Amino acid sequence: MSAPVDTTDIFKKDIFAGKVVLVSGGGSGICRGLTEALLRHGAKAAIVSRTFSKLEKAAKEMSAATGGPVLPVAADVRKPEQVEAAVAKTVETYGRIDFLINGAAGNFLAPFEGLSYNAFRTVIEIDTLGTFNFTKAALPHLKASKGAVLNISATLHYTGKAFQLHVGAAKAAIDALTTHWAVELGPHGIRVNGISPGLIADTEGANRLAANFNEAAVPLQRVGKIKDVEQSALFLFSEAANYITGVTLVVDGGQWLNSGNHDYPNSILNFVGRTKSKM
Ligand code: HXC
Repeated sequence: MSAPVDTTDIFKKDIFAGKVVLVSGGGSGICRGLTEALLRHGAKAAIVSRTFSKLEKAAKEMSAATGGPVLPVAADVRKPEQVEAAVAKTVETYGRIDFLINGAAGNFLAPFEGLSYNAFRTVIEIDTLGTFNFTKAALPHLKASKGAVLNISATLHYTGKAFQLHVGAAKAAIDALTTHWAVELGPHGIRVNGISPGLIADTEGANRLAANFNEAAVPLQRVGKIKDVEQSALFLFSEAANYITGVTLVVDGGQWLNSGNHDYPNSILNFVGRTKSKM
């Protein structure tokens, strides 16, 4: 099975020269990879998350690895005034915003019965409201640049993944934002797309969610890599995709198509068994 390749093997090095990308969640995981990929192809970046010390360290490393400028900006995506300040800081530094990646996300495994009111609200606020807040705050600049938005989603809500109700609900709403924004912002020359990665190795999400991942159950026979997502993001931001909007591209090697009940937690199977015997 083919291994993931570098974006510089596929795309020209300067395709994003002069472009500025603002990335929530850009200091770690998948979105750090997407940011580095854009930097390698000429972009300048601003990365946002809550903890400045972590961001500052990440920004230095990312700059050293790619040669591109990276501005660390601390903000809580749940707080509109902090989001507006992050957008203002980016424009003050670079003069424009061309691309927005909404990637900040919260996640943990929890059954519905164990999910507190605050736990559900927290994930909806980080994922869904964070995506809304950043897009709203960046809109004037995206209109000026005729830019593009990329929303990071997931496939959990396609099947109703156990213990992921909070994230599935948040990501389903993000998919709706993608389609509605595509329709409303298209006339301004702004394209809005999404990517739904499957399980991607060496990420916080994978560490938390998938201790026993079965590669043989993936149609393409391997776990995803951050590089796989980088290729898709570069394509969607590039001119090659200039007639594509409102699409959420699944990048998972076919994982969700083959994600049946074989990995259901025993507790759920037991519950279903008891219910059936009473019917
Ligand atoms: C149950 C939990 C919990 C857990 C937190 N909570 N962790 N409930 N099980 N494991 C509850 C808390 O008890 C609290 O509710 C509420 O959630 C808020 O928690 P806080 O810690 O006060 O909030 P905060 O500091 O804002 O941050 C919490 C968090 C963080 C953002 C949810 O724990 C987190 O998610 N970090 C991981 C980030 C991450 O992994 N990102 C990548 C996502 S990957 P109470 O009622 O007690 O106050 C992804 C893709 C998925 O999304 C697809 C993969 C295939």
